Amino acid sequence: MKKISIGYIFNEIHPKKEDRLFREVAKEKGINLIMINTNKYLTEEDIEEDVKKCDLFFNNSTEDISMELTKTIEELGDKVIEPSNKFYYFEDKWMFFMKCFKHKIPTLKTILLSENIPVAKKELIGFNHWPVILKRIQGNNGEYVAMAKNTKEAEQIMKRFWKKGSERLAIIAQEFVSSLSYRVTVVGDKIVQTAIRPGKGWKKTGNHSNHIGKFKVDKELEKTIKKTIKVFGISVCGIDFLKKDGKWLVLEINAQPGLDFFINDRKRLVGEILDFLKKKAR
Ligand SMILES: Nc1ncnc2c1ncn2[C@@H]1O[C@H](COP(=O)(O)OP(=O)(O)O)[C@@H](O)[C@H]1O
Ligand SMILES: [Mg+2]
Repeated sequence: MKKISIGYIFNEIHPKKEDRLFREVAKEKGINLIMINTNKYLTEEDIEEDVKKCDLFFNNSTEDISMELTKTIEELGDKVIEPSNKFYYFEDKWMFFMKCFKHKIPTLKTILLSENIPVAKKELIGFNHWPVILKRIQGNNGEYVAMAKNTKEAEQIMKRFWKKGSERLAIIAQEFVSSLSYRVTVVGDKIVQTAIRPGKGWKKTGNHSNHIGKFKVDKELEKTIKKTIKVFGISVCGIDFLKKDGKWLVLEINAQPGLDFFINDRKRLVGEILDFLKKKAR
């Protein structure tokens, strides 16, 4: 059988441990992994060459430029995991909520706030969940996630978000659910890892630690996971859950999930992803 070639998109001045691990495991699995570093000089001819060589691409970079490269590759007729159009729903926290709502995927009660502060304050009073969580529709690592105890604090947070970011993006308000944060890592339609996320206080944004544990996926959670990956059409991701009154609620989906919750398990996860890509490429 012909050797499968996969384009691996990353963005580093030097390949990091994870990138090197992909190369190493690919070799073991007889996959020809073509490393595409968006940090290096790439001409359109280079990209066209790669498209000719590769059966499939995997984007493991979260940089904006990798999204443009993804779109370029798609335009040239090849497939990238994850496809660029999927990001419309999970990179926008309001669209994420809308999609969950439409498909009856259990999630947190959320509203989109007006950009007019007096109107937003009225909306928050109507929403009536205190304390309330405010989030910019785009953000990462909890950078644009904050808690407000009242409308005055909410106003301060909204102004802070707008001052801090280079863009004045829309803000959502969400019920606060006091819970641990549960991460499920999915590859294809398989649950490959669970992790209770570490973090101080109510915001759990930690990735790797020696102190976090795993948890059991019960029938209800499994059903929700299956539905979520189907509805969002994503294949390599980390899904975060909170638990409210014994019920699982989807908090968000992350493409390019952290593979380092348990360092000793990272190689296995890389293997799972490569097996999946190989199957997809065929
Ligand atoms: N509504 C909420 N109730 C309780 N905790 C929350 C809520 N929203 C976010 N958090 C906490 O804050 C963290 C970051 O929020 P998240 O929505 O994942 O934003 P980001 O995209 O910045 O990671 C979550 O992992 C969770 O621990
Ligand atoms: Mg998060």
